[in-house]
Amino acid sequence: MQTMSAEEDIKKRRFCQSSRSAKLCELLINRKDMFELPELPFSKDALGDWTSSETIDFHYGKHHAGYVKKLNLAVLGNEFEGQSLDEVIKGSRDRDTKVFNLAAQHFNHSFFWNCLAGESSKPEGELAEAIDRDFGSLEDFKNQFGVMALSHFGSGWVWIVQEEGKLAIRDYHDAESPAGTIAVPLLTLDVWEHAYYIDHRNDRGAFIEGFWNHVNWEWVGKQMI
Ligand SMILES: [Fe+2]
Repeated sequence: MQTMSAEEDIKKRRFCQSSRSAKLCELLINRKDMFELPELPFSKDALGDWTSSETIDFHYGKHHAGYVKKLNLAVLGNEFEGQSLDEVIKGSRDRDTKVFNLAAQHFNHSFFWNCLAGESSKPEGELAEAIDRDFGSLEDFKNQFGVMALSHFGSGWVWIVQEEGKLAIRDYHDAESPAGTIAVPLLTLDVWEHAYYIDHRNDRGAFIEGFWNHVNWEWVGKQMI
């Protein structure tokens, strides 16, 4: 049986296989601070027909993994090397589009997986009170969130954020993210086509509708400050 460090070395060597530069590979293999694809907080088939294991294979296993892989290459040998994800996002915003997009997409996807569960719970306590206070009711909130998610043009993300003591629904284009801003992220839905096209084709509305059956409200509530 291999030790964890041997497994890690193999992982890094596989990671480098597509790189054209032997020097880059060498540097990456020796790095101890690479960004890593997080474990999914649920089993691959936990989301049923809403997001099939095939979608997980592509969305998590290809798209998210690809952002992580490219991010590790993009920060190599520059000011971002060795920084935390939060530092990279803050430092690259409006300054280095490539690094920002990769770092923000790593954050956005990691956050998104944590928002999901096999079965949805219900908002409770402070979160439930804030939803009622700022949107009228949970149903009103879902309607407003759904309208924004459905009408969002092109690729992006819809979020509930907490800002200045209030909850707000925001949509962000492409990789843009509340990470590194004053808006505290609580919940997000990925509305890039890669999130739903295998299971729902072009029916983003069905994807949004099914989302509510898989929101991990307990985890969302824990993000409030
Ligand atoms: Fe995505």
